[in-house]
Amino acid sequence: MSEPLEIDVITIFPGMLKGFLEESMLGRATANGLAVFRTIDPRDFTEDVHRSTDDRPYGGGPGMVMTPGPLFRAVESVKRPESRVILMTPQGAPFAQRRAQDLSRERHLIFVCGHYEGVDERVRECLVTDEISIGDYVLTNGALAATVVIDAVVRLVPGVLGGEGATEEESFSQDLLEYPQYTRPAVFRGMEVPAILMSGHHAEVARWRQEQAVQRTQLRRPDLIASRTIETEDH
Ligand code: ADE
Repeated sequence: MSEPLEIDVITIFPGMLKGFLEESMLGRATANGLAVFRTIDPRDFTEDVHRSTDDRPYGGGPGMVMTPGPLFRAVESVKRPESRVILMTPQGAPFAQRRAQDLSRERHLIFVCGHYEGVDERVRECLVTDEISIGDYVLTNGALAATVVIDAVVRLVPGVLGGEGATEEESFSQDLLEYPQYTRPAVFRGMEVPAILMSGHHAEVARWRQEQAVQRTQLRRPDLIASRTIETEDH
């Protein structure tokens, strides 16, 4: 069996991640030896009696900034040459399925979770390899954002989701939203499942699904279609 994907999360609130990492899909990934999760508290790498991890910003202004020392030492305690060191920040690249696929092929991910007003710029300049945002809004807690990325990444590790191939057809894997899905009963409160899905014609079902996926994407996310066209022209 291949080596598990190792994930270290550096956060001053390790308790927030605990339940999330132990339950459901992520818990199973650990039990099956496909992923290993550890949390690291930068407070364990402080050098003052108060174990402080933040300080007031030089130049003044509101809020507190995370100091570089504890974050550098925490990362250095686990970093290997091949590690990806990911800073969760609203200033990062928008997270999308392609980045999830890319990260799922790595061996070791280190998530650096900022809190308060952010982290000292030297962390950004010298410590991290990637900066990721999960959307255009500001959370108080980078650990929450890291859990979103971890979930999207770990489910793509081969073997984590029983039915292999399931992730290839789902939303975004071809830059399209997913086609509509139905299960039993065939008629529910007078609403019928489209006849084509019960026809047994695999090629026609595939064509119908592709058409539905394109229509749905045009209607709900025309931006995805636009970027798809640009990429096709580029390559
Ligand atoms: N930390 C605070 N807000 C965030 C966001 N939108 N994405 C990633 N990390 C964050």
